[in-house]
Amino acid sequence: MRIDIITIFPEIFESPFAYSIIKRAKDKGIVDIHFHNLRDYSQNKHKNVDDYPYGGGAGMVMMIEPIAACIDKLKEERTYDEVIYTSPDGELLDQKVANHLSTFGNIIILCGHYKGIDERVRQNYITREISIGNYVLSGGELAAIVLCDSIIRLIPGVLGDETSALSDSFQNNLLAPPVYTRPANYKGMLVPDILLSGNDSEIVKWRYEKSVERTKTCRPDMLNEQE
Ligand code: ADE
Repeated sequence: MRIDIITIFPEIFESPFAYSIIKRAKDKGIVDIHFHNLRDYSQNKHKNVDDYPYGGGAGMVMMIEPIAACIDKLKEERTYDEVIYTSPDGELLDQKVANHLSTFGNIIILCGHYKGIDERVRQNYITREISIGNYVLSGGELAAIVLCDSIIRLIPGVLGDETSALSDSFQNNLLAPPVYTRPANYKGMLVPDILLSGNDSEIVKWRYEKSVERTKTCRPDMLNEQE
């Protein structure tokens, strides 16, 4: 999968993309991430990418020219499955959306700033708007990082154990069951016997029951979402 990220702050991505699962996915060549600094596409000498809103009002608006120039150049080089804009107005990111996006070959993610982007970008370039939650961030970069992480870990081959993404919370509309590791007895706090029993089918059953129990307690709304 190739991800092209258009941003005015490419540096924000350095650390989150340099460790752990995303790093492994990049090293294995499973994901190829490219950054495009919007200022490089600015057509004025001050490298501005924003301007005052027509009609007045507070805040600046991201201009269409640099965004269009960048997207047009990328589209000349390859075709894209989706041109995503991270915005609080978008559809809410959930596991289903992440699963779907993880099947794509090439995507563009545009990170918004200021009061937003010129509406003509939305109308003519953006194919999908995604929000990571019902709150407003200072910019789309953090949302893009969350979005990329949620997608990349689902691409086959990224996680060492293929089943581990399948047993994540949300993957089957249930939260993940509790997990334990050594020691089996920490100051009298014990690991449930069943997990030490070696009885695989009973362990699978126990885990399912615990998943249901945890979902009922912590996120009962998820059970009502079952299709
Ligand atoms: N940009 C600002 N807030 C955002 C949010 N909640 N989700 C995605 N992008 C955003």
